[in-house]
Formats: sequence, C-alpha cells, structure tokens
Amino acid sequence: MNIETIESAALAAIAAAAHERALDDVRVRLLGKKGEITTLLKSLGKMSAAERPAAGARINAAKNNLQAAIEHRRQALGREQLQRDLAEQAVDVSLPGRQRAGGSLHPITQTLRRIERIFAAAGYGVESGPEIEDDYHNFEALNIPAHHPARAMHDTLYLQGGLQKGLLLRTHTSPVQVRVMEKTRPPIRIICPGRVYRKDDPDASHSPMFHQVEGLVVDEGIAFADLKGTVVDFVHKFFEKDLGVRFRPSYFPFTEPSAEVDVQCVHCFGQGCRACGHTGWSEVMGCGMVHPNVLTMAGVDAERFTGFAFGFGVDRFATLFFEIDDMRLLFENEQRFLKQFA
Ligand code: PHE
Repeated sequence: MNIETIESAALAAIAAAAHERALDDVRVRLLGKKGEITTLLKSLGKMSAAERPAAGARINAAKNNLQAAIEHRRQALGREQLQRDLAEQAVDVSLPGRQRAGGSLHPITQTLRRIERIFAAAGYGVESGPEIEDDYHNFEALNIPAHHPARAMHDTLYLQGGLQKGLLLRTHTSPVQVRVMEKTRPPIRIICPGRVYRKDDPDASHSPMFHQVEGLVVDEGIAFADLKGTVVDFVHKFFEKDLGVRFRPSYFPFTEPSAEVDVQCVHCFGQGCRACGHTGWSEVMGCGMVHPNVLTMAGVDAERFTGFAFGFGVDRFATLFFEIDDMRLLFENEQRFLKQFA
C-alpha cells in the first residue's frame, strides 16, 4: 500500500480516537510488531539498493510523524479527561456551608453551675448521694420519726413494696448531709445538688421531680449569724442585684431554730406585682441551725460542734433568674423555649 494513503488514513484514525484505549489500538495497528508501518519498514529489505534510501527516509518520516501525532492526541485526550473530571467533581463554592446544630446547656444546668461556682468560690465541696433512699436517711436520721406529722409535708413516692422495705425516692437532698456527716469529721462545708421527688401535680410552680441544692456547714462555733451572712451573700451574688432578704421564723424537724428566706421580688423590687402575688417578696429557701439530734445520730459531737443547713429549689431560682413564668417549661424540652438560653 502506498505510504501517503496509509499516513493520511492513520492521521484521521488518530484524530478520531475518542479515548486512550482507542488511541492505543490505532498505535498497535500502525506501529506494533505486525503494524502497517512496521511491515513497510520490514519490506525495505526486499527493495533494490537504489530504491531503499528514499523509501526508508519516507517511511521513517511517516513513522515519526505518526508517533508525534499519537503523543499529541494522547495529551489532548488527557486534558479532555481532566476537564471532565473537574466538571464532574466540581465543588460549588457559592453553596452555603453545612451548619452543625450546636447544643447548649439547659437553663437548669446553667443555674446549677452558677450556684456551684458561687459556693465553690466560698470553699464549699460538692457532694451527691442516691436518688433512691432509705427511710432512715430521708426521714429518721433527720429527726423525722415514723408517724411524725412532718412526713405528711413531703408527699413521698415509695418504691413498689418500698413502704415495707423502707425504700423511696428522696424528697429532699438533706439525706446527703446525713451521709456526709456519717463519713466525715467536721469541719464540714458542702453543698449537695440533685434531683428530688414529691407526689405533686405539675403546675406553674410545682413539678413532681425537681432539683434542690442543700448546704451544710458544721464546725466549732458556727452561729445563726454565719447562716444569715452566707445566705444573704449568696442571694446577692446569684441575682447580681442588691435585693432585700428577710428571714421568717419557721419549722423544720432537722433544724432548730429554723427560718424561711424571702427575697425581694426580682420583677418589681418589692413594689408588688403579679409574679410575687403582690407581696413584693418571693419565698426561696428553708434553713436553720442543725438540730443536735441530727448531729448526734450521724455521730457528730453535738456538745462541741454546731452547724447550719439550708435548702432551696434550683428550678425556682432558674425561673426567677431567667424570668420564666411557668416552671413546666423547664421540663417540656420545647426547642423554641430552650433556644432562648443558648
Ligand atoms: N430539706 C428541706 C426541704 O426540702 C429544706 C431545708 C434544708 C430546710 C435545710 C432547712 C434546712 O424542704
């Protein structure tokens, strides 16, 4: 076959090769062991010495030309493939980024941490205890013997068959105080935060499960003045407002004397509004000097040591601090509500 015909057909085939494999097939067909050009080169041997130089030069020129064309085409195909890959795998940088939904701390947790920070700065340790308590630690050791009328105040949730076994859901975190006194010698300076349970119907200011923080300080020479100073200081630090605090005489079996603490209404500063029932005050905690019976039962020498205790609802403090008008919102976990505290 005529070299010109082969060459022009080959150039057309190279140009038409749509991908690398097709191009390689063309290369083998032309330049492989039995390829058209190879065969032509082999046929040089049969030519006369006169013909051979010109024919050889012509065929070699065609061979070089085709090799260059193949290489050229290979690079072009490579570039096309790269363009396709880039187009396919393109990242649309104008798309908005994927937002990772960030969680946040529940307002009760925020309140708890705020309380813990204040007491930690005053040198208090944080203690916890079991939510399933026995009758002894929840009542007996707190000077509330069986049939004591104070038990009626607590609306206790007993475990199934628990009334006989003496197991219940703790109604306050006071049993933690008892447990701490049983295992530590004074001086004691602790708070015990935790969940407590009472058979209450939920309403704007009640929940059958709520959170308490209870404080206990036992040492030589602890007086009611220490309790007052501690409570007033805490209230001021917590609300970051110079609110009035008043102590009203009250009764708890485990403290004597006992008091209830009122704080000036955070909404009206004592003017009287709907939030405080037009009294100007909100009742926020119970407290008192630890009853000598309680110290003695826990193995503390009541002749040598005295102490004070206080207890309050974290949920109540949270509603006052964040100005939430219904405690139930704290337990419904409605996103639109929770997002306001993120
Ligand atoms: N434990 C009491 C309650 O839950 C609160 C309290 C604690 C009162 C400590 C006085 C002293 O009602």
